Amino acid sequence: MKHRTIIEPFRIKSVEPIGLSTEAERVEQLKAAHYNPFLLRSRDVIIDLMTDSGTSAMSAHQWAGVMEGDEAYAGSRSWERMEHAVRDLTGMPHVLPTHQGRAGERILYGHLGGKGKVFISNTHFDTTRANIEFTGATAIDIPIPEGQDTALEHPFKGNMDVQELERLLNEHKGHVGAVILTVTNNSGGGQPVSLANAEEVSATCKRHGVPMMLDCCRVAENSWFVKNREQGMGDMTYRSIAQRMFALADGAVMSAKKDAFANIGGFIAFRDAELAKACTQLLIITEGFSTYGGLSGRDMEAIAIGLEEVFDPHYLDYRIRSTTFLGEQLNKIGVPLMMPIGGHAVYVDAKKLYPHIPPAHYPGQALVCELFRLGGIRSVEIGSVMFGTYAEDGSLKPSRMELVRLAIPRRVYTQSHIEYVAETFEGIMAERDRVKGMRITEEPHFLRHFTAHFEWLH
Ligand code: F0G
Repeated sequence: MKHRTIIEPFRIKSVEPIGLSTEAERVEQLKAAHYNPFLLRSRDVIIDLMTDSGTSAMSAHQWAGVMEGDEAYAGSRSWERMEHAVRDLTGMPHVLPTHQGRAGERILYGHLGGKGKVFISNTHFDTTRANIEFTGATAIDIPIPEGQDTALEHPFKGNMDVQELERLLNEHKGHVGAVILTVTNNSGGGQPVSLANAEEVSATCKRHGVPMMLDCCRVAENSWFVKNREQGMGDMTYRSIAQRMFALADGAVMSAKKDAFANIGGFIAFRDAELAKACTQLLIITEGFSTYGGLSGRDMEAIAIGLEEVFDPHYLDYRIRSTTFLGEQLNKIGVPLMMPIGGHAVYVDAKKLYPHIPPAHYPGQALVCELFRLGGIRSVEIGSVMFGTYAEDGSLKPSRMELVRLAIPRRVYTQSHIEYVAETFEGIMAERDRVKGMRITEEPHFLRHFTAHFEWLH
């Protein structure tokens, strides 16, 4: 018999209680957090879909690895295991451990960046962009045009616009720090990148003598889409698809908090020995010695094991299917979504959900607050709060899209949790016309979404 039900391919061995609350309590909690989900206390959250980063449930095998951690300052056995796992996956000889993805970004783009330099990506993740801009360089996003139409069905909406890449590489000849392919394309809606697109990007970079970096934190999830959607890929294993993608790049930056199922960690990997040498210097100054970066031995064990586990086909099938399940439930009740559903998250199109709220009044932030009020669900705005900038006259230059991300932690929530989220959206839809926009009352210069304060407009 072939079953319809996609079951979680694991049993629960250890549980963590969820504190339940009333709507009245949550209204107060939201107010105290200045309507910013980053300022809420985790114990007040019922279902936490803020991020899939560092929030995975580790396997029994990973926890056993934690006990095996070798905490030596130099040359630890756990580093040998992690280095071996990363080399084997990426095919890159030089590997540096970092405490998370952005530490790798700071080191690598700090070295390659600087005033006058240009970086080009399908879409820079927010920390990637901030680390690049912090050096004085410019970050340019060139997703394919199809990637910007939320309703359009396209198998690889995460792809980079290769024609535009060619044009930019000519325009900025001699000034391009790197081309960065983010798989899957997180800020662009969690959409996958095809192997064919990665090949074209790689060939274009080679012709122009520009290094290509892979931001590979969800490379296993991306491989699922390649195998199941790209012609001629059906017979390859998920791991070999990822390896083919790495083979196209000159270097890779990974936040191990995603597809390595680790609660902390990351790495940078390179083919070029000189680049690795320069980055090692920066690593030792700011992260730690080159055999631990910012990590403990036990973290490195968990990463090494996680990098193997994530390519299990049963896990990846469940992972992508269960994200799609949430999308399907929301689709049924008419919630406008970024289509098709991505790998790690469902993205709601807040501009369409609240057509009466203009981008300058942050429809995404309004939805984030409503989700918490009605269901204790924590989510994140990926729109003009995160990416908006100000024009000279002080008016908002909005982001291209106003999305809200429901990111699914790996191996954490069961189907009934997800059904509860879908039910909360019934309330969202029923009250959509009454919701007002928001305004920012306080904000920092960089990465404002983390600490900004908001209030409702009346
Ligand atoms: N690149 C991508 C594509 C990411 O999604 C992230 C983190 C990073 C780099 C930075 O890694 O957090 O380990 O420093 N994304 C998390 C998220 C924070 O919620 O999507 P980090």
